[in-house]
Amino acid sequence: MGLTSSFHPEEPCTESQGICTLLESGGEPEVSDSVLDAIDDFLVALAVPSRRIDNLETFNQGSQIFKDIGCESCHRETLSTGTFERFPILNNQKFYAYTDLLLHDMGVGLSDGAKEGNAEPTEWRTPPLWGWV
Ligand code: HEC
Repeated sequence: MGLTSSFHPEEPCTESQGICTLLESGGEPEVSDSVLDAIDDFLVALAVPSRRIDNLETFNQGSQIFKDIGCESCHRETLSTGTFERFPILNNQKFYAYTDLLLHDMGVGLSDGAKEGNAEPTEWRTPPLWGWV
């Protein structure tokens, strides 16, 4: 979002964003560590979407097909949390997010022509499928 913080202290204005360098800064940094910690605590504590299984039989069939045709090689069924000093209740929790959280080269058909961080224009992170649709 272009806000500076102790993680990203530099104003990320590019040459094509001329007005960006003219605007007044919202502070040094714009987002303080205490605000960052508060937002981080809020996001860490958000609940995961609950499963909406109307019909267990078709759910199980679909789940098997999903695995059989290879979707799970990237949309990994389960991941596990690590350990959190601030939130021990979240330690080592298994969750069903259907992602490997990794970047994959999805080919030129999905290229947006923009390199972002270490991601090439054809690379995309596997999105979690939980709560999808
Ligand atoms: C090679 C790894 C890989 C495999 C295998 C794979 N996906 Fe994906 N999937 C991705 C990536 C990466 C994206 C994000 C693409 C993008 O952002 O343009 C994605 C996006 C999606 C989305 C859109 C999610 C959203 O939030 O927009 C759905 C739905 C999906 N995949 C379902 C499937 C299904 C079903 C299969 C099996 C037929 C499958 N995927 C196989 C990597 C994979």
